[in-house]
Amino acid sequence: MNTLIRSGTVITAKETFRADVRIREGVITDIGASLEPDSGEEVLDAAGRYVMPGGVDVHTHLDMPFMGTVTSDDFETGTRAAAVGGTTTVVDFVIPSHGQPLVEALEAWHEKARGKAVVDYGFHMAIVEFNDQVAAGMADLVSRGVTSFKCFLAYKDALMVEDLEFLAALAAAREHGALVQVHAENGDMLAWLTERLRAEGHLEARYHAAAHPAIAEEEASGRAIALARVAGQPLYIVHLSCGGALDQIRLARALGQPVYCETCPQYLVLDDALYRVGGFEAARWVMSPPLREAGDKEELWAGLEDGSIQCVATDHCSFNFEGQKDMGREDFTKIPNGAPGVGDRMNVLWTAGVMAGRISPNKFVEVTATNPARLFGMAPQKGSITVGADGDVVVFDPNRRGTVSVKTSKHRCDYSTFEGFALEGMAETVLSRGEIIARDGDYVGRQGRGEYIMRAPFSPVGG
Ligand code: URP
Ligand code: ZN
Ligand code: ZN
Repeated sequence: MNTLIRSGTVITAKETFRADVRIREGVITDIGASLEPDSGEEVLDAAGRYVMPGGVDVHTHLDMPFMGTVTSDDFETGTRAAAVGGTTTVVDFVIPSHGQPLVEALEAWHEKARGKAVVDYGFHMAIVEFNDQVAAGMADLVSRGVTSFKCFLAYKDALMVEDLEFLAALAAAREHGALVQVHAENGDMLAWLTERLRAEGHLEARYHAAAHPAIAEEEASGRAIALARVAGQPLYIVHLSCGGALDQIRLARALGQPVYCETCPQYLVLDDALYRVGGFEAARWVMSPPLREAGDKEELWAGLEDGSIQCVATDHCSFNFEGQKDMGREDFTKIPNGAPGVGDRMNVLWTAGVMAGRISPNKFVEVTATNPARLFGMAPQKGSITVGADGDVVVFDPNRRGTVSVKTSKHRCDYSTFEGFALEGMAETVLSRGEIIARDGDYVGRQGRGEYIMRAPFSPVGG
């Protein structure tokens, strides 16, 4: 299908201008004033709307076994929700079992996504141990388009790696042009605090936050940065939640070290007051890292604005309140960590960021699409409105109003992380490789149309 998007205001990471955008055979072929429709071309009127690159969410967990259960969204429901919310690319985490060859774990994730995903997708690989088999697997994976590897400094006795393993992973990644991502919380600190809380009989949901203090994230961020410096390797810190960890990143970047990071909408718009709502309700926001103090939100916004934070991803990791979160009703350590958000990211960030005057529309595009695509080897195909890029476009209506609610959410989850959040501006029409896949809050595309993205090796963004 060929499409001409007419009379909209194009927003890129750098510019805002009135233009028409033509997409042929899935690729943007023309951007210009007053383009005339060709015969057989579908014309989409975007007058009064913004025309932006489809969102790129580089942190999702779809169909992932975790903490004794499996995330409630699979590649079908998760990517449908993404599409409706204006996200046209996701990068999901493959989590291998201990001892499992990485390529076998990757194949299992391909199987989960194939024929189900409706937006284009890539994979990161978790490194849960380091040995010769893993080193060989990393080289193999880079040749298969998996060019980023996540190490966990938390989840002791499960996913956590020791510093020596982390260093080895950094060195191996350096050899193959891959980027190492890190979950920066001090796993020993968390384990010790958890045991102390248990001994004191503090097992209610809200104590999850007490077991995951900001200092554990600050320490692990600083340590990960130091280890990356020793290894001479760039580093990407995932789901940054607090000002203390951001300070570590700022310091490193000021010294010229290539350290990048993402934060997530939940850390920008919610805070730890939600853990005091009473009883087990707090389990909805049990995630790692947890929600932080109100002041941290302001620091994260400042970090986005000044470029210290390059990306906003979701860490979408949905578990139903009934039947999954409630596994930990008597003991917070059994509450599966994570919350839904892939369908909410664009609309929530627009409202809380652009409409509130905290970030510009161009910064919005930069952190939701352009930077994630560049850092993770998907540019220029993804993340920008340029000739030659994929026709992944969001026609965004700044005048549309709505409220985030589980009643309208497309996530397969029985609650919404952002329930009641009033939206000022929403994705209206969403195109993926030129096909209209979502319109007015509904998925209208074909089943399982998403394609795997062979990502390129890492190269620095600059800035
Ligand atoms: O609570 C979280 N973040 N769950 C997903 C796993 C992870 O650490 O990213
Ligand atoms: Zn993590
Ligand atoms: Zn995650």
